[in-house]
Amino acid sequence: MTLTQRHFVAENERLPDHNHILLITTGSVASIKAPLIVSELLQYQNVKVEVVASKASLAFFKAEDVESLGSRVWTDEDEWTGSFRIGDPILHIELRRWADIVLVAPCSANTLSKIAHGLCDNLATSLLRALAPTTPTYVFPAMNTLMYEHPLTAEHLRVIREVVKYEVVGPIGKALACGDIGLGAMTEWKDIVKIVVDRLQLTRNHSE
Ligand SMILES: Cc1cc2nc3c(=O)[nH]c(=O)nc-3n(C[C@H](O)[C@H](O)[C@H](O)COP(=O)(O)O)c2cc1C
Repeated sequence: MTLTQRHFVAENERLPDHNHILLITTGSVASIKAPLIVSELLQYQNVKVEVVASKASLAFFKAEDVESLGSRVWTDEDEWTGSFRIGDPILHIELRRWADIVLVAPCSANTLSKIAHGLCDNLATSLLRALAPTTPTYVFPAMNTLMYEHPLTAEHLRVIREVVKYEVVGPIGKALACGDIGLGAMTEWKDIVKIVVDRLQLTRNHSE
C-alpha cells in the first residue's frame, strides 16, 4: 500500500529521444518474470519503463524488486486516492499519454476477457480502454491449459486481434506452474524483450 500520494504527469515524465515502455502485469504466475523483463529492458539506451500491476499480479512479484531497478509500479490505489480535485492528473490517462508501447505480460484469462469486452474496472484496463489505437500494444496470454482451451478464450483472442487490433503473442507449450503440461505458458520473457528491442530498434548500453 502506498502511504504517500504519488503524481504522474506525462508531460513532465516523457524525456526527449526516449522510448517509454509501459508493462502491465496481471494475475498469472508468469508475473514473477516482471522484474527480469524490466531489468533487461533497462539495459538498452534511452529506455524508461513504468509498470502497472493488477492487484492479483502483486502476489507474484514485489514492487520493490522493480523499483530498485529504477522503474515505478502503479496500482489501483494510486488511481483511487480518495481526494480527486478538478485539474488533478488522472493516472490512467497520464500513463497512456506517456506510453510509446504497451505490453500486457502476462495477460491473465480474466484481463483477456475484460479487454475483449471493453471492461475498464481497474487501472490496467482503464488505461487500455483509453489508449490511442496508434500505440503499439502487445498481449502475452498466460494461463492454465484448460483455461486456454476454454471456448471463450478463442473468441476473446479473436476480438482482441480483429476488433481491438492488438498483437497477441503466445502462449507457448510447456510444463506449467500448476503442474499441467500443455499450451498456456507466457512467451519466454527474453523473447518479449526481443520483440520490443526489434520494434523500437533499441541499442544496448555499452558495457563498462
Ligand atoms: C496461485 C494462482 C495462480 C494463478 N495463475 C493464473 C494464471 O497463470 N493465469 C490466469 O489467467 N489466471 C491465474 N490465476 C487466477 C487469476 O489470478 C484471477 O483470475 C484474477 O482474478 C486475475 O485478476 P487480474 O486479471 O485483474 O490480474 C491464478 C490464481 C492463483 C491464486
